[in-house]
Amino acid sequence: MTASRFYATTPIYYVNAEPHLGHAYTTIIGDALTRWHRLLGDEVLFLTGTDEYGLNIQRAADAAGLDPQAFADSIAPKFAEAWKHLEIANDDFIRTTEPRHRAAVEELLQRCYAAGDIELDLYRGKYCVRCELYYSDDDLLPGDRCPIHKLPVEEFEEENYFFRLSRFQDRLLDWYAAHPGAIVPEFRGNEALGVIRSGLRDFSVSRTSLTWGIPLPWDPSHVTYVWFDALTNYLAAIGFGTDAQRFEHWWPVDYHLIGKDIIRQHCVYWPAMLMSAGIEPPRGWAVGGWLLSGGEKMSKTTGNVVKPLDLVDTVGVDGFRYYVLADTPYGQDGDFTYEGLVGRYNADLANNLGNLMARVATVVGSKCGGTGPAPSGDSPLSRAAADAVTGASAAWDVVAPSRALDATWQLVRATNAHLEANEPWKLEPGPQVEAVLGDALEALRIVAVLASPALPDTTQAIWERIGLSGAVTSQRVPADVAWGGYPGGLPVTKGPALFPRITV
Ligand code: MSP
Repeated sequence: MTASRFYATTPIYYVNAEPHLGHAYTTIIGDALTRWHRLLGDEVLFLTGTDEYGLNIQRAADAAGLDPQAFADSIAPKFAEAWKHLEIANDDFIRTTEPRHRAAVEELLQRCYAAGDIELDLYRGKYCVRCELYYSDDDLLPGDRCPIHKLPVEEFEEENYFFRLSRFQDRLLDWYAAHPGAIVPEFRGNEALGVIRSGLRDFSVSRTSLTWGIPLPWDPSHVTYVWFDALTNYLAAIGFGTDAQRFEHWWPVDYHLIGKDIIRQHCVYWPAMLMSAGIEPPRGWAVGGWLLSGGEKMSKTTGNVVKPLDLVDTVGVDGFRYYVLADTPYGQDGDFTYEGLVGRYNADLANNLGNLMARVATVVGSKCGGTGPAPSGDSPLSRAAADAVTGASAAWDVVAPSRALDATWQLVRATNAHLEANEPWKLEPGPQVEAVLGDALEALRIVAVLASPALPDTTQAIWERIGLSGAVTSQRVPADVAWGGYPGGLPVTKGPALFPRITV
């Protein structure tokens, strides 16, 4: 757990749809993970962005009666705005139509071409325009429908350049064998290995049937296939093809956060492309499940989209972030329901954390004149606090946010139980009351730091209400979450409810 540099990415989102809960899901997890690494003192780069080329976007632009660039220009800011609203602290936002991206794509293509891994060939196949993927008959649903979108695929025949993925099967298997745990959670890693073991077919990296893309540097009658192009954003943002020194500093990436729908492209195509170009594969991939709505993946095509900003109106930004992070074990599918969202908000935030803050502030007001006492050295809560720190750290190490928050909420619950067992509100002012309240304040301080990646606004509010100055995010784990850091003698203020209870 020594401090180092930490580079993490989200997928770049297609600009054919406005941001929805499914996009917010992956982005919030990346944000919380990188906030945790900032607490560890790491030098962090958190990247997100938009995927703007390809047939999918060209068609959406046509339907909107706009040229594709104007269309992309109208949607990309909606992602940036949604992330701002959700307190996403991304360090960069890359758009594939930027010159820095084009430079990186050209460089990567040239390297793979020079290595002899890109060659011209004729291709005939069944193509899903939404996925921008060819499917074999085995993969398709009855009636030649795409397994992801359930829409009919289209017959395409083209002369394409191909990436010789079939040459990389052994190299990929050897690499994964030498890097166990590179994909978390493990069962998602097994899915990727399954794809590799089942045999790899070459994939086309160019199209002549459309113009909305980056021309191949050696044959501009072809434009680059959108997935080859899109994956390269992870290199482009750190200077590949434009700033070698910066690239050296940040590559290899620590985690690509992705959804299970794009394992093949990220865990199979991408490391092979990098190997071909003489670039190290990523250090890690964190693969999330889908957030389902009515049992189906939320998507524009399915028409069951929930807009994140509508939910924020009900439970607040932090309430929404908490739900996304805590409710579903990362990697598995989760079913979004409004009742589930409100239920978790009321239980964990309103009743547990919010109530703890309110109670402590009230009793400090009535028994200690509003001045928070220092914690005791040998508090029974110190053990619970140490366990929360260890549990949260171990969970974040393997990108398990629900476990990290669970470990933290054990401390919240232990602190509420400690107050109930001692009932300081019934005692006369004096050392006993002060010890109980000082311990609770110290527990709140530690909870604020540990929960800050999930709840950036409300943990800062807690920090200030218990009289501490500066930013909760300036604290460092583990040094600043050792028991005994709350100095005492600080003004404690109650303020309005942090998480007002919601009645359904
Ligand atoms: N543009 C490609 C990714 C290129 S990355 C080099 C793409 N874009 S997308 O906008 O369709 O979706 C991106 C990702 O959003 C999905 O892979 C997944 O990670 C996330 N999700 C979209 N819908 C989702 C859910 N309903 N639930 C959880 N995540 C989902 O694919």
